[in-house]
Amino acid sequence: MADESAHGFARGLTNYGDFDFSLYLRKSFAASMGYSRELLEKPIIGIANSFSGFNNCHRHFPELLDAVKRGVLLGGGLPVEFPTISLGEIFLAPTSLKFRNLMSMDTEEMIRAQPMDAVVLLGGCDKTVPAQLMGAASADVPAVQLVAGPMMTSRHNAERLGACTDCRRFWGQYRAGKVSDTEISQIEGKLATTAGTCAVMGTASTMACIAEALGMSLPGTAAIPAVHADRLRAGEASGFAAAQMIQHPIRPSQIITKNSVENALRVLLALGGSTNAIIHLTAIAGRLNIRVSLQRLNQLSDTTPVLVNLKPVGSNYMEDFFYAGGMGAVLRELKPLLHLDTMSVTGETLGDRLEIDPSYVDHRIIAKADEPFEPQGGLVALFGNLAPKGAILKRSAADNRLFEREGRAVVFESLADLANRVDDPDLDITEDDFMVLKNAGPKSASGMPEAGYLPIPKKLSAKGVKDIVRISDARMSGTAFGTIVLHVTPEAEAGGTLALVQNGDRIRLSVANKCIDLLVDDDELDRRRSAWVPGVMPLNARRGYDRLYAAEVLQADDGCDFAFLRPVDTESTHP
Ligand code: FES
Repeated sequence: MADESAHGFARGLTNYGDFDFSLYLRKSFAASMGYSRELLEKPIIGIANSFSGFNNCHRHFPELLDAVKRGVLLGGGLPVEFPTISLGEIFLAPTSLKFRNLMSMDTEEMIRAQPMDAVVLLGGCDKTVPAQLMGAASADVPAVQLVAGPMMTSRHNAERLGACTDCRRFWGQYRAGKVSDTEISQIEGKLATTAGTCAVMGTASTMACIAEALGMSLPGTAAIPAVHADRLRAGEASGFAAAQMIQHPIRPSQIITKNSVENALRVLLALGGSTNAIIHLTAIAGRLNIRVSLQRLNQLSDTTPVLVNLKPVGSNYMEDFFYAGGMGAVLRELKPLLHLDTMSVTGETLGDRLEIDPSYVDHRIIAKADEPFEPQGGLVALFGNLAPKGAILKRSAADNRLFEREGRAVVFESLADLANRVDDPDLDITEDDFMVLKNAGPKSASGMPEAGYLPIPKKLSAKGVKDIVRISDARMSGTAFGTIVLHVTPEAEAGGTLALVQNGDRIRLSVANKCIDLLVDDDELDRRRSAWVPGVMPLNARRGYDRLYAAEVLQADDGCDFAFLRPVDTESTHP
């Protein structure tokens, strides 16, 4: 008989029509890996390892993996590592987001199909943590997220450097002719010098903090630098915590709840975190039927102060955040705004955690709630006829002199069109115009790349223009900055109003009123809509994962998840 309460290698037996034989066979094959009989009887903690030679951010995982294994053994379990897809942000074409759902499917299915009582998720680079949390939420096996930790900074002459806000800063200076060919090539070798994720509050660090805020990571582990000995101790503790969950199982569905998702949104806003995190948190929550509403985001944003002074919004790096007090300090400052009854993988509530006396906090980096760096949250959702289902602006990383204005649209039909024309000396553009990029959303051939940070045309950057309103259905790297309206939904490829914008149209942006409108009358829009033809490649001309992706990907307000990966009773909002 199959035993549903079985542990270790007796879980989820391969079906040979004879359960006892299946268990016998499995143990004899497991024994071939050199395990003693004693270990073969232990509960199993799987370790989802996203190490890859194509992922520089995870290059220390072999050492971290050893630490996790030590912790599991200490906790009385048998650690069994298994590989999953890895998503190295810089090494994937057309963009890593396209493969996030594939990694989540891999993670979910391998957790479910293999015999493990709990799992440690070893991820870090931008899309890996969302993919693992999505997969773990769907598999709903007790899980502990362990992140890679951030890189250390480096130096160029007297300046500190950290990937990748400084990559963009120096590249902008190079485009403006202020940095030479020689210097830009020297800097190339100094931007990313250690293992770990990008050194600023980009997507990876934001998602690490969100995992901790949700309760899926151990308290205090989000910001520990990748190369610090504490990161290895966090690995050991995560393995131990996962082993503890064998006696007291806590499933992701008990941790990721409406209240913990709201806490995570508060943290995201207080961090001035990455815009990508909205999409990822929406997708993670969606796996458990929890809806993240952009209207609710705005309500939370208006009442959540920005508390950290980190790049790309501020001036410090993740290692400074760690030494300044990290997530514990942020959560303590936010305490009156948080739901304290949410649970973490330790079995403690957030309230229990925050009872502990604060250690040293450097308030130059983590502000007190009553003396915040900004009184309102870093992100705001915009609505209007240009984005009926919302768009996102990272107001904390934008120039507020551009927040209330009307501008003339300068339209780029695609990424290729942008690349071909943006530096054309004859491009008809001034600093008062709005650059509009179409066809870079989730359904586009580019799969919603981080291309929303449109380069400022050389003719303007040479004149010293540092920011200009930019609007698109693309995403933006968490390490970028500027007055950039992203995730316009519905996207152009799905027939959204964005597809109808033409050169010379007027667009009104009001951050105060949270709106973005195309100032073209409805009759004219109807006329344009009836003439519009989708440019996306038809399904029958695609194959493999590309076809699955094109058929199933949802819009940004649904987290760009696949419809069929959400719980079966979720009402489909497939466009
Ligand atoms: Fe991996 Fe930035 S490239 S986190």
